[in-house]
Formats: sequence, structure tokens, C-alpha cells
Amino acid sequence: MSFASTPRVLLRGAAQTRPVRTFQRSISNKTYTLNNGTKLPAIGFGTFQDKEQQESAVYNALNAGFKHIDTAKVYDTEEFIGRAIRKAGVARKDLFLTTKLWCNSFHPDDVEPALDEALSKLDTPYIDLFLMHYPCTFKRGDERFPKGSDGVMQMGDTTYVDTWKAMEQLVRKGKAKAIGVSNFSKSEVQNLLDNGSVVPAVHQMELHPYLQQKDFVSWQKSKGIHMMQFSPLGNQNNFYRDIYWASGKADSIRLIDEPILKEIGKKYGKSPAQVALAWGLANGRSVISKSVIDWQIKQNLESDFPLDAEDMDKIATLDKKLRLNDPSSAYNWKLYSDLEGAWST
Ligand SMILES: NC(=O)c1ccc[n+]([C@@H]2O[C@H](COP(=O)([O-])OP(=O)(O)OC[C@H]3O[C@@H](n4cnc5c(N)ncnc54)[C@H](OP(=O)(O)O)[C@@H]3O)[C@@H](O)[C@H]2O)c1
Repeated sequence: MSFASTPRVLLRGAAQTRPVRTFQRSISNKTYTLNNGTKLPAIGFGTFQDKEQQESAVYNALNAGFKHIDTAKVYDTEEFIGRAIRKAGVARKDLFLTTKLWCNSFHPDDVEPALDEALSKLDTPYIDLFLMHYPCTFKRGDERFPKGSDGVMQMGDTTYVDTWKAMEQLVRKGKAKAIGVSNFSKSEVQNLLDNGSVVPAVHQMELHPYLQQKDFVSWQKSKGIHMMQFSPLGNQNNFYRDIYWASGKADSIRLIDEPILKEIGKKYGKSPAQVALAWGLANGRSVISKSVIDWQIKQNLESDFPLDAEDMDKIATLDKKLRLNDPSSAYNWKLYSDLEGAWST
């Protein structure tokens, strides 16, 4: 990261005496080494929502320099990503691709066919990271949300431990370089550590300045599990405002409008969104922000800069334990039961 410290650029008004640090515009090349030895780019690109726009968004992201693209069966974006990669002409070895197994394919016999389908859509012989999207097992079959006539989700009869063991086989076969989980509680992660033979390389979980989960973070770190922050910008779009199970949880102030992040951003000549991403990186985590807007896509890639300790302390005060993603009621499974911000606690 190149850093040009200069006291020449001054803010107007009250802050006139305070110098703004100007960072040369540079995209992040930072990577993390996962517990299986593979290198994960620190800043990745999310593709949840706006699926019709994802082919061009991913194409723009690849051209801007993103090396990690995150998708999932349930996002319906794998095919668009495959097309965008072909169009951008990026060599497979220069890319890190993550996708996720959906809950209706958790029966051990369904796991490999589900990955094969994803590989075909993404047009790749292997995936860098294959995640179990949630710990809950739905009824087997084509229906993604197999609800009964009573409207209640019908659950499968295999456990996520059996699913995990099937995922472990995919590592042995070379179809997945690394495997991991998403949206697991501490006890669910512990169950995999106790009963599986592969330690999850990554936990993709909701983490942002409004939901910091410090104890869970340090516990997972001690187990060698890398944390990948989803919704690192606190998800600024309308998904959690519109979906029925979120019931007003997301109506509070948007993270990118947070005055403390704005104030910190001014000091570095960065936006609040960039400060939120830099905070994740400063904590040794990867981030996957989503955007379909070109200037935001480029801006997000320029979010690797060091934050002073006093600024990290200020961000620590923002921990409202505000969890945006908790579909426990819809999925018929008490998610995040031992974690901060669970809606049922
Ligand atoms: N494992 C899981 O269960 C799970 C759950 C949620 C998300 N995820 C993954 O994590 C990714 C990111 O999370 P997310 O999509 O929920 O939310 P996010 O990245 O925190 O926020 C996305 C929103 O922020 C806006 N935005 C992006 N960059 C910005 C910038 N520089 N300045 C201002 N606004 C900006 C986007 O606008 P525009 O889109 O209008 O450009 C979009 O509305 C997802 O796309 C998905 O890949 C995983």
C-alpha cells in the first residue's frame, strides 16, 4: 500500500487545521493464506441480489481488478458469473471462486451432484471454496424452500455433519480446494470440529461495525478458521427492509451514513464504505462487498489502508449487535443460538 502523507490538503470550516492524508489510488493485492495453504484475496465481490445485472457487474469487477467472486446456488448468479469470466478473459489460475451448497442438497448423495452443477454453470473444473450455506437441512428435492401446506419449512433427515463429511470427499477428489461454512453458531462449528476430519477453512458470516462478535471471532481464530465478512457494508439495499422475516430490523441508520465512519473517512480521504472495509481488513478478515455501480466497485477495491488505533477504538464503540440476516423463523431452525444479535434471544 503506497501512502503519501501530506499536510497540504485541508478540510474546510471547523476541521481546517486538521490535515487530510491522501492515499494514492491503489487497488488491494492483499491475500490471506487459509488453513489448507491456498491464498484468498482479501477484498472479494458479492453477487447476492440484482441477478440480471450480475453479468455486467462481475465483468466490471474483474476488469477493475477483483480476484475473488462470491456466489451461491440460491443466488442464481453462477451462470452469469461464468459468462462474465469468459468475456473478461481472466485466467482461471488468477481467480478465486466461492460458491455455496443450498439446504435442499444436504443429503450426502446430493452434495457432489450439486457441486458438479455449480462447476458446469461457472464453467470451471474446480471451486476454490465450497461453503455450506446454512446449518439447516431442508427436505431433499428440487424445491429450494420446501414448505408444507401449513407454510412451515419441511426439514431433511440428514445432519450437517453428514453433509460436511460428503464435502470433505470433494476436497480429496480435487473438485473443491477448500471447504467451509456460513451462518453457523459456535456450537455448530464445534460439532464439526469434534466430528469432522477437516477444519473449516473459512466461516462466511455477517460481520460489520454494527455486529462485531468479538468473542466468537477470537475463538474461531484460535481454531484456524478464517473469517470472511458478508454484508461488510451492513447491506445498504432494500432486501432486509422488504423481506417479511426481517420485520423492521434493518430500519435503523445505514452503516454508510454513520457519522463516526464519515468523520474517520475524512481523515484519510476515504468514504465511510471504505472505512468499513478497511476495518475488516485491519482485523485480519476478508470482505465481500456487493455493488452493481461501477464507481462503487472501483472504490471498494481501494479500501486497503491502515487505520490508526484511535480510529479502531472509535469503530469499536459502534457495536450495536445489529444482525440483519436471521431467517430462523422462515427456515424452521434457531440460527445463531449462542451468538450476539440473534433475533430470538
Ligand atoms: N452467506 C450468506 O448467507 C450471505 C448473506 C448475505 C450476503 N452474502 C454475500 O456477501 C455479499 C455482500 O453482502 P450484501 O450484498 O448483503 O451487502 P453489502 O456488500 O454490505 O452492501 C451492499 C449494498 O451496498 C451498496 N454499496 C456497495 N459499495 C458501496 C459504496 N462504495 N458506497 C456506497 N454504497 C455501496 C450496494 O449498492 P449497489 O448494489 O446499488 O451498487 C448495495 O446496496 C453478498 O453479495 C453475498 O455475496 C452472503
